[in-house]
Amino acid sequence: MTLAPPLLQVRDLRVDVGERTVLQSVTLDVAQGELVVLMGANGSGKSTLGMALAGHPSYTVPAGQALLGGTDLLPLAAHERARAGLFVSFQAPPDVPGVKNNLFIRTALNAVRQARGEEPQDAFDFLSGAKAAAKELGLPAAMLGRPVNEGFSGGERKRNELLQLSLMKPKLAMLDEIDSGMDVDGVRAVVKLVERLRAEGTAFIIVSHYLQMIESLQPDAVLRLGDGAIAERGDIELARAVARTGFKQHIAAAAATAGA
Ligand SMILES: Nc1ncnc2c1ncn2[C@@H]1O[C@H](COP(=O)(O)OP(=O)(O)OP(=O)(O)O)[C@@H](O)[C@H]1O
Ligand SMILES: [Mg+2]
Repeated sequence: MTLAPPLLQVRDLRVDVGERTVLQSVTLDVAQGELVVLMGANGSGKSTLGMALAGHPSYTVPAGQALLGGTDLLPLAAHERARAGLFVSFQAPPDVPGVKNNLFIRTALNAVRQARGEEPQDAFDFLSGAKAAAKELGLPAAMLGRPVNEGFSGGERKRNELLQLSLMKPKLAMLDEIDSGMDVDGVRAVVKLVERLRAEGTAFIIVSHYLQMIESLQPDAVLRLGDGAIAERGDIELARAVARTGFKQHIAAAAATAGA
C-alpha cells in the first residue's frame, strides 16, 4: 500500500515583502481533514505565510515549493489558487465598496463550483443556501444585500469570512485569527463550522493566540513559527506551554534546552 501524499506540501518556502525577507524557509505538510494550529509571536510571519499561499502580489516567493493536491500553487494567480481548492481568510477583512456581498460571494462560489465540474447556482438557490449559512453563523441576512464588509462591525466581518468558507467548502482553509474580535457565540460558531467541514475532509491551518479556542479545536498538531521558519512542532502541550509562559520565555527556555 502506498500512502497518499499530504494535501498541502510546503517546502523551504521563502517569502519577501519588498526588500525584506520575512520567511526564510518554511516547511510543512497538512493532510486531508487534518487541523494544524499555527502559533507565533506578533510579527513572526503567520499572516505573511497565508498571503503568500493565497497569491497576494505584495508577497513574493523567490524560493521553495507549495503544492495543493499535487497542483503547484506558486505560478498561479490568486483566483486560480482558489479554484484549486485553497481558501485563506483575512486577519483584517477589507471593505469592497460598491460590490454587493451576495453577488461577490455567489460569483466566487460559482467560479469554484465550475472548477469542480459542478453546476453554477442561480440567484435563488444561492440565496436560500446563503441565508441558512448566515443564520448558522449569527450573521443577519440583511448583510448579504450590503456592499462587502462596508460598515460591518469587527465580528460581522469575521462572520462574513466564515460565510464564504461555509459555502465554498475548500480543500484547505487557512483561517487567520478568525476568533479575534468575536464574541462567545461567534467563537462557538467557528468551532462548529470547522468541525463540520473537517468531517467532510477539509484541512485547516488555524492561526490563533487564544488557548481556549485552540483547545476547543482539538488540533492534530501545533506549530510555532519563529525566525522565519517552523521553529517547533508539537501537540496541544506546545500551545499550553506558550500560554503559561508567553512566547519570550518559552523561546528562551527552548533555546537553553537545545544548548544544554
Ligand atoms: N505588506 C507588508 N508591508 C510591509 N511589511 C509587511 C507586510 N506584510 C508583512 N510585513 C512585515 O512582516 C512581518 C510579519 O508580519 P505578519 O503580519 O506576517 O505577522 P503575524 O505573525 O501575522 O503577526 P500578528 O500576530 O501580529 O498578526 C512584520 O514585521 C510585518 O511588519
Ligand atoms: Mg497576523
